[in-house]
Amino acid sequence: MIERFGEFISTNKEDDLALYTAKPEDGAVWITGASEGIGKAVARSLASKGFIVYASARSADKLKALADSVSGRGEIVPLSLDVTDREACDKAVRKILDEAGSLSVTILNAGTYVPQRANDLKFEDFDKTLDVNVGGVLNGLLPSIDAMKQAGRGQIAIVASVAGYGGLPKNGAYGLSKAGLINLAETLKFDLDRMNIKMQVITPGFIDTPLTEKNDFSMPFLMDVDEAAKRVVRGLEGQRFEITFPRRFTYLIKLVNHFAYPLYFLAVRKITGG
Ligand SMILES: NC(=O)c1ccc[n+]([C@@H]2O[C@H](COP(=O)([O-])OP(=O)(O)OC[C@H]3O[C@@H](n4cnc5c(N)ncnc54)[C@H](OP(=O)(O)O)[C@@H]3O)[C@@H](O)[C@H]2O)c1
Repeated sequence: MIERFGEFISTNKEDDLALYTAKPEDGAVWITGASEGIGKAVARSLASKGFIVYASARSADKLKALADSVSGRGEIVPLSLDVTDREACDKAVRKILDEAGSLSVTILNAGTYVPQRANDLKFEDFDKTLDVNVGGVLNGLLPSIDAMKQAGRGQIAIVASVAGYGGLPKNGAYGLSKAGLINLAETLKFDLDRMNIKMQVITPGFIDTPLTEKNDFSMPFLMDVDEAAKRVVRGLEGQRFEITFPRRFTYLIKLVNHFAYPLYFLAVRKITGG
């Protein structure tokens, strides 16, 4: 029985599936949440590899500065929008298709985090977080799939978080949104594989960005944003479904999530300080 399972695993390695990986000449990249943090660093890195990167966020001035700072083979094209605006996201994809001819990669990265304690839960915090983190992803996802379906190929990466693996302190709305994104990516992968659209989920631990600046505790294995971008880009070039880093931390959290609950709560309290 165990032998058979081993055989099944060895003949079904993710690496053997060889899903589509975009090259700069295939078409443009669209990345949301590119005015700051991880999105900005990934946009830069992909442009340096020769991609035309359409960079979206609400801050038009920051996107322009980012575009102006790039020189070399690739290019960053500012495309300011609010991801909660469904029509704007739809228009963005159409604009990319009109201008670049094809959309080969979409990275749905825009996200927000509001720390919450259970003694002070506010509907506004849940609404805001779910609108951006879930609604914003769906608004970019559906038109991207449509465009890639027509082209017969594409790559989509959804930025979730280790906070989506299981409950963490202060992560009520955020964890809810990121757990949903992981499940969504897993679910869609079954169909998208057959459509030659590579679906990946990105699950960072703590990365040094404006988003984590509001944390008032010491963040274990905090990673530099350029290093995080390197991991993202390497992951996009690979075949693994999950792109996760820093692995020493994210694998630990993964492991802890398999513990029985009394041990899980104890371990998470220890790791996060509760
Ligand atoms: N940093 C971490 O430790 C960490 C860990 C796990 C997961 N993540 C995830 O990684 C992603 C990026 O995080 P980050 O740390 O780079 O965050 P960040 O530095 O705060 O940047 C967030 C980006 O999202 C954009 N954004 C926010 N709301 C938006 C909206 N309504 N419409 C369009 N753009 C919007 C922001 O630009 P504007 O304000 O200009 O719109 C900004 O460019 C997020 O999904 C986050 O949840 C981060």
